[in-house]
Amino acid sequence: MPALAGPNFDPTESASTMTQPILQAVPASITAAEGQRLCVLKFGSSVLGAETDYAAVALEIYRHVRQGEKVVAVVSALHGETDALLSQGARVGGDCPALLARLARVGELRSAALAALALNRVGVRVTTMDPHEMGLLAEGQPLDSNLTDLDAGAVWAKLRDHEVVVVPGFTAGHAEHGVVTLGRGGTDLSAVFFADRLGAHRARLIKDVDGVYAEDPVKNPHAERYSEVGYAEAAAASSGLIQPKAILAAQQDDVLIEVAAMGAAQATTIANLPARKSLPLRGARLRVALLGCGTVGGGVLAQLLERPDLFELNPVLVRRPADHAGEAACFTSNPTEALAGDPDIVVELVGGADPMAELVAAALRNGASLVTANKALVAQHHDLLAAAASAGGASLLHSGAVGGGVPVLEAIGRLRTDGGVSAVEGIMNGTSNFILGRLEQGCGFDEAVHEAQALGFAEAEPSADIDGHDTAHKLSLLARACFGNGLSVQSIARQSLRGVSIADAQAAHARGEVLKQIGRCWRERDGGIVAAVRIESLPVGNLLARARGEENVFVVTAANGCRHTLHGKGAGRWPTAASVFADIMDLQRASLARNAAVWQGGG
Ligand code: HSE
Repeated sequence: MPALAGPNFDPTESASTMTQPILQAVPASITAAEGQRLCVLKFGSSVLGAETDYAAVALEIYRHVRQGEKVVAVVSALHGETDALLSQGARVGGDCPALLARLARVGELRSAALAALALNRVGVRVTTMDPHEMGLLAEGQPLDSNLTDLDAGAVWAKLRDHEVVVVPGFTAGHAEHGVVTLGRGGTDLSAVFFADRLGAHRARLIKDVDGVYAEDPVKNPHAERYSEVGYAEAAAASSGLIQPKAILAAQQDDVLIEVAAMGAAQATTIANLPARKSLPLRGARLRVALLGCGTVGGGVLAQLLERPDLFELNPVLVRRPADHAGEAACFTSNPTEALAGDPDIVVELVGGADPMAELVAAALRNGASLVTANKALVAQHHDLLAAAASAGGASLLHSGAVGGGVPVLEAIGRLRTDGGVSAVEGIMNGTSNFILGRLEQGCGFDEAVHEAQALGFAEAEPSADIDGHDTAHKLSLLARACFGNGLSVQSIARQSLRGVSIADAQAAHARGEVLKQIGRCWRERDGGIVAAVRIESLPVGNLLARARGEENVFVVTAANGCRHTLHGKGAGRWPTAASVFADIMDLQRASLARNAAVWQGGG
């Protein structure tokens, strides 16, 4: 392999020299800090109307992961499925409750697997657990039992290596009957019980309304919504919305419940609190200009089209509108048409550093916020874009530019406000990682590149991936996130993948090692910031060696020496689109909050 000319990184301080077991020991007890980072989310049948809704469920869970939370997601069956199963059971064999319970729980088991598959598609590290794998037990009647036991250690052990554990609500094991269900609406009870036993700071119940209302908001559009309410008053006001047994259990165990809609910032908090009510926040739809509809743009378009209640879409800018005939949106090749009507948000996914720079800078100056996954654009034109955003009072968001679906920029942002960061290193180019893996399997270099292109990981010009330019762009953005100022892309030394052969990859394998393209950025003792892209051979047990296929792994070292690992899919349509859409939703919530501030201020 060609040697890298460039700055030296002290390997004694590198995560790539650390060989750590993937799973850590299950903690003897759950700490308060861990509980603070755990959120139990519950998705009921009211938000699971059809199979297509699992995509929205995945995005809602992803939103919490990106905030740095671990999530236990408790799911109901698809709407109508439990009724259909119970009717089927009655038709086929009568009314034995113990046998009907075995049949009724099938909807939840299936739903948990589907929700996990949807999350896996966006690149989140997720697993599912069935009741018998987590010691979940109940007592009582087969169709109306109450939860009694959970092996919290077993769930926390899974949370060590996954961001999300999806579990079926409504069902549990039972000493006499084997398995039982918890009564209709029982997934609410499951969520409260998991929050209590896992030490989570809240159970958030996602419903088709944005909270608990004092009156039915369908009958009275001016009904007030509780922002906070005590358990007893919530039980009276939420009849039909939350299972009464769940509210009682929350009251007994002092579990904080939130009731919220999908994607919403606002929620009703149910706890030992005096009631507070107000008119719910409502905002106008935001106008979105989408520039580019390729691999990532197509994914973002699908998500925007799912929320016509929130977003109004301009014609989408593409090179050849005729190629999109029959799709559920309008397309144009004219940038003026795509940016017409003073959009609130411009989503730039055309790619390349230069083609769109002046155009999006003008939109920013005009007050439109910019969301992009285009690392070349932001790395090379950051100052232009930041000045334009500041002039227009707009935001510049680019979560999808680094890590695909791995929220590394968000994690660095949190660490920076919490003492600072001293280094970041990682596998940050999915295509290179995919190619190195295929070389090890004996696949030729060119064939591996073509595969990466077909799978939608590779840049339009694959030299960006192979020669380390893509990683250099990402390092420039990471340097800015970690240390407040960017590194010029030109200053970042890089080593190309082109010199690596099948024989190199297989020789590494024979030594118990694996070849990886590693990007690193760190602060020198004299305060200088340095970054480099290298090809290295790592022991297979190394943290960075965990990246498979297009996955990314980042190890961020905080100023206090603690290392934080982030791992997930770093390239491809759905992981990157999830990150871009999460930025768009952040802007939507910020706009709603601004409207509320103006409204409350009488403006
Ligand atoms: N080509 C890039 C990669 C896409 O392979 O990582 C995601 O930035």
